[in-house]
Amino acid sequence: MAIRLVVCKDYDEMSRRGADEIAKIVQSKPECVLGLATGSTPCRLYEYLAEDYKAGKLDFSKARSVNLDEYKGLGPDDDQSYRFFMNRELFSKININIENTFVVNGLEPDEKIACGELEAQLDEYGPADIQILGIGENGHIGFNEPAEQFTLRAHEVALTESTIAANARFFEDESKVPTKAYSMGIGNIMSAGKIVLLASGEKKAEAIEKTMNGIVDPKVPSSILQLHPDVVIIVDLAAASKISTLK
Ligand code: F6R
Repeated sequence: MAIRLVVCKDYDEMSRRGADEIAKIVQSKPECVLGLATGSTPCRLYEYLAEDYKAGKLDFSKARSVNLDEYKGLGPDDDQSYRFFMNRELFSKININIENTFVVNGLEPDEKIACGELEAQLDEYGPADIQILGIGENGHIGFNEPAEQFTLRAHEVALTESTIAANARFFEDESKVPTKAYSMGIGNIMSAGKIVLLASGEKKAEAIEKTMNGIVDPKVPSSILQLHPDVVIIVDLAAASKISTLK
């Protein structure tokens, strides 16, 4: 099976295992392309990468990165934007050249221009050596929400009510959560050499079961990962609690 499952005892161990996957790539290929995610799940993983850098174990000076997505309407100075998040959580703490990091421009109002820039960046860098993913409770990856069909390329997304509600915890109130985002498409994500999906907590358990053992269905976007040749799903015990093949 293409998906390898790693069950960890808790969030911290999940984060360390995820950081190890990135560390291996950075050490073996200094000029690697890292596909990065935001959200609460990878925060501790980024802390581990920063600690490894500080300890002299990792050198990001030649690495390049592209992020999965960005809220439409939020700029780099907005503390809720994903560009701000990446600078705060990771880029300011390691020696990556900020010019070699790409987050799609949330302030660009024109979908064609914004998504064209993301596609052009992906073309220039080439496929990510490793793509980090979190997962929505509804199985979204990046901001590819459940749909009638998979959208392959970068696109503008209308966030679902459940995603807006889930992300409201980062904002003053739900009305402040942007309703649209720009996201890599499923084809962009699937072109990465290796995919590492992280999930922590009971709320993600059903999505993880469907990702691993459900039918491949655009209504559960993460289920497409079953078709990728090199996927590692790293979960804590709570997120693993509904995996039928573990029982
Ligand atoms: C973030 C992203 C999203 C999140 C997902 C889970 O760049 O693409 O798919 O990974 O919404 O978010 P958290 O980790 O906050 O539960």
